[in-house]
Amino acid sequence: MSDKKLFLPALLGTNRKDRSSGHVAKWVFEKMQEREEIETQLFDVRNFELPRDHYGTEIGHLFPEWRDAIIKADGLVIVTPEYNHSHPGILKSVLDLLLKEYIHKAVAFVGVSAGPWGGTRVIESMVPMVRELGLAVTFSDLNFPSVASKFDKDGNLLDTAYDKRAAGFLDELVWMATTLRWGRLNVSSKYHS
Ligand SMILES: Cc1cc2nc3c(=O)[nH]c(=O)nc-3n(C[C@H](O)[C@H](O)[C@H](O)COP(=O)(O)O)c2cc1C
Repeated sequence: MSDKKLFLPALLGTNRKDRSSGHVAKWVFEKMQEREEIETQLFDVRNFELPRDHYGTEIGHLFPEWRDAIIKADGLVIVTPEYNHSHPGILKSVLDLLLKEYIHKAVAFVGVSAGPWGGTRVIESMVPMVRELGLAVTFSDLNFPSVASKFDKDGNLLDTAYDKRAAGFLDELVWMATTLRWGRLNVSSKYHS
């Protein structure tokens, strides 16, 4: 088993101007940085200048920082708001830039909503899609329902119960990412040598 830190980037999945998901992503990213077994990097879909006339893995090379991060990654945290019970289109566009780079790596979801379900519907709707990317989904999500009431105007989280929830969420992701890294290194597959 490798003692190397797990590399687990996080992706903020909306470019909406006044997004509350930004507060959530920042808070989760800080929790990940506190863990000694995790190395992380925060990506923001706002920073992907997607062309209007092309799409998918054929333009993945135009985003080398993202591609290199996913090649190096042991897993991924996706922070997504719920938009009409689904995900923001730009999040799908960013995920679709790559394919084989995700295979046999872990993914964990953070759901954000104005309503009372904390993004459970968007997370459930994304599971078949990330499966097709080759990602393996954890079963411990982190949910932020009624998100407007969760943070103060400076973006500080008001509910201390989230510390324990984030610990459990990250424990599960670390287990999955560690196990899958062991598998990628020790069990042959046509997808990795
Ligand atoms: C296009 C759109 C659709 C939305 N659909 C839902 C929804 O289905 N359920 C819900 O609880 N909130 C919905 N919301 C509200 C968002 O969940 C809310 O804005 C929340 O703060 C998270 O998104 P944000 O990061 O953009 O702020 C929607 C917002 C937008 C912009």
